[in-house]
Amino acid sequence: MPTVKSKQTTEKLSHLNNLIEKLNAFSADNYWDLGKFLVERFIPAALKEGIFGDEALKTITSAPGFKFPYSMLKQCQQFYTYYPDVEKRLLPEIFYFDLATKVDDSAKRREYEKIAIDRKWTISDLRKKIHDDELARRMDEKTKYGFDLKEKNFWSFEAADPRFGKPNYKGRIPGQVVANLLFYYTNQGAYIVDPFAGSGTLGDIVDIVQIFKDRKYKLYDIEPSDERIVRNNILQTGIPEQTASVDYVFLDPPSEFFPQTSDSAFTASAAKADTMLKLKGVVRESARILKKCGRVSIIIEPTIVGLELIDFPGEVASLMKEFDLKQIGKVYMPRRSDSSKASRFGGEKSLTSEIREILTFEKL
Ligand SMILES: C[S@@+](CC[C@H](N)C(=O)[O-])C[C@H]1O[C@@H](n2cnc3c(N)ncnc32)[C@H](O)[C@@H]1O
Repeated sequence: MPTVKSKQTTEKLSHLNNLIEKLNAFSADNYWDLGKFLVERFIPAALKEGIFGDEALKTITSAPGFKFPYSMLKQCQQFYTYYPDVEKRLLPEIFYFDLATKVDDSAKRREYEKIAIDRKWTISDLRKKIHDDELARRMDEKTKYGFDLKEKNFWSFEAADPRFGKPNYKGRIPGQVVANLLFYYTNQGAYIVDPFAGSGTLGDIVDIVQIFKDRKYKLYDIEPSDERIVRNNILQTGIPEQTASVDYVFLDPPSEFFPQTSDSAFTASAAKADTMLKLKGVVRESARILKKCGRVSIIIEPTIVGLELIDFPGEVASLMKEFDLKQIGKVYMPRRSDSSKASRFGGEKSLTSEIREILTFEKL
């Protein structure tokens, strides 16, 4: 139990009282000496009492009257450990304190030290360089794959990546969404079909992002926006692909397929039935063209008509099941518009949807 353990630790530390008092007497800006005392005297003595370094540091900092916080002791310890010879080095001490506490990699520390000496850097120059390099490192990490990779199932993007899709195209999805879907749900060499290609966002991802260049795609739309897209009305002619020939289908259906929030409650059930009829055709066709273990993702959200909530994600999940498609993923994606405002209907308060869902299914 932690209380017993900390009581034992406190008892053991009481044998170190003399050293703790000496530590507490150090001046707060004497980082290197404090570090030296910690590394050479206090930590070995604590170890003899059976208390490991970090535990000893944490415990003494919570002792009444002890003036240094744990983070500072840790920094001093690190400073002395990395630069026990600081006096013999060419730069002022503060450079080495910053290097020891801000740069984990020893090769990188040596590199910064060399450049700082060669270029006669001030401490602000060094701090700026470390800060800029850290920002660049984080950016690289984020875009290692050539797009903003998400690791959790809430996909929110500041803005649509301008490389993908055509600006001002109604209903264009941020390309980062499609890139993440391809990352998680397609494999190398996959054959991908987008029956609602719109501004060609999916095609752009495959054409531009290096890791997807091995994918092959076919784009369809009722109103093609470029020469890569084949004209097709899915409601009339289905998806013109062979049965069991496709690895992944991406469905971003048009808003016209869904009831409008301005529709009256009276027409809600008719509007729902109309939407479900269209979606059934789309799902049936997707299931038909998918290979076994092929996947389909659909962007969908609930619609609130008057006071009635139509749970399209739930309806689509049931529909997919009918066609032997098992759900394997769900992602939430906020709308980037202020069109969703709480509204009043018949004197009652009601909400509109601000989160879209991306559901993914696998063919059994
Ligand atoms: C939401 S947009 C797709 C946007 C696309 N993902 C993008 O990022 O640009 C829906 C598309 O479906 C197309 N569409 C509407 N009705 C259609 C139909 N019956 N058959 C095929 N495409 C249709 C529209 O022309 C529109 O481009």
